[in-house]
Amino acid sequence: MSFDPETIRDQFPILSRQVNGYPLVYLDNAASAQKPRAVIQAMTAAMEGSYANVHRGLHTLANETTEAYEKARESARGLINAPSANEIIFTKGGTEAINLVAASFGLDLHTGDEILLSEMEHHANIVPWHFLRERKGVVLKFVPVTDDGRLDMDAFYALLGPKTRMVAITHMSNVLGTVNPVAEIIAAAHAMGVPVLLDGCQAIVHQSVDVAALDVDFYAFSGHKLYGPTGIGVLYGKAERLAALPPYQGGGEMIGHVMLDDITYGEPPHRFEAGTPPILEAIGLGAAIDWLSELDRPAIAVHEHALYAHMRTRLNGANWLTEIGTAPGKGAIFSFNVEGAHAHDIAQLLDRYGVAVRAGTHCAEPLMRRFGVTASARASFALYNTIKEADAFVDALEKAQTFFT
Ligand code: ALA
Repeated sequence: MSFDPETIRDQFPILSRQVNGYPLVYLDNAASAQKPRAVIQAMTAAMEGSYANVHRGLHTLANETTEAYEKARESARGLINAPSANEIIFTKGGTEAINLVAASFGLDLHTGDEILLSEMEHHANIVPWHFLRERKGVVLKFVPVTDDGRLDMDAFYALLGPKTRMVAITHMSNVLGTVNPVAEIIAAAHAMGVPVLLDGCQAIVHQSVDVAALDVDFYAFSGHKLYGPTGIGVLYGKAERLAALPPYQGGGEMIGHVMLDDITYGEPPHRFEAGTPPILEAIGLGAAIDWLSELDRPAIAVHEHALYAHMRTRLNGANWLTEIGTAPGKGAIFSFNVEGAHAHDIAQLLDRYGVAVRAGTHCAEPLMRRFGVTASARASFALYNTIKEADAFVDALEKAQTFFT
């Protein structure tokens, strides 16, 4: 089982560009991934060949576009093995998917009810719950993170209690790369009658996800990290959970009937897709999923781990480097600091050599505080990265650190 990135690199037009006189080495994939031609062409073809609003029209273009939009929903269903396409809601991103659950589910919460999160969440899975703390007196509890970047599962069991109303945890950390024991978390929460939301923004890119096998209640992910366009995300919700959830936003298409003095609402998923949805973006995401589904995903996971392992081995002797997150089985995300340097400076120096990494808090301020840093740099690998690029990153990093010793 092996995956050769050279077989797909020429499908990503952007990868052939130069940056500051060097070949682009794009290692900012956890923030947003580049797009294959299949996605670019699907969106262009829709705009050039068949486009109209969806679910509203009785003309050919409206019907064709509705069909393409619903086909994308079916692709998303297949990707995560959801039992029904009616359990797939298109949102404008992973963030909106989590906001939807927090806002709608939160309507029924009361002062003292608890939401169980973790210290390794990014802001998309913290801030929507803070709204409930501020507005409803809901109590937020956070599972601590161990020094090597795992969830402290003893603390998880201690914090999961009779007042817990929802467990909302990341499947894979965007900073640490840690893959959390989600099956165990779901089983424990369900044993207490508590639903679970998984933030799958990172995990969905790097591993197969089966929401039916996981028995998870809600699963959120964004399109743009999955080689699809921006402006589109997915919320999976179990049919019975969605049926019990009040609408999030109001507008066209989510209603049953609107009277001047009353209103009825549509059934999921339309109940949660108010107004004109991100039609072209959904078509683009569907194309990304179909494209990805043709590839050998287990082999891609092996390839990404090999990139990380190769880079890490080369950096093993570097006493000027601190890695944040070393949990066993972690994904190909490398968060680090160079002694004496600010992460922003490292990112800018790497950019001089054409290497793109992210630096900052990674929208995870509580996690930065947990590790006693204000920022870190982060190299995150995707399927199209090569061993040569991992070497280019290490070479550039070794040069960058000389500025600080
Ligand atoms: N959450 C995204 C990241 O990790 C934006 O960079």
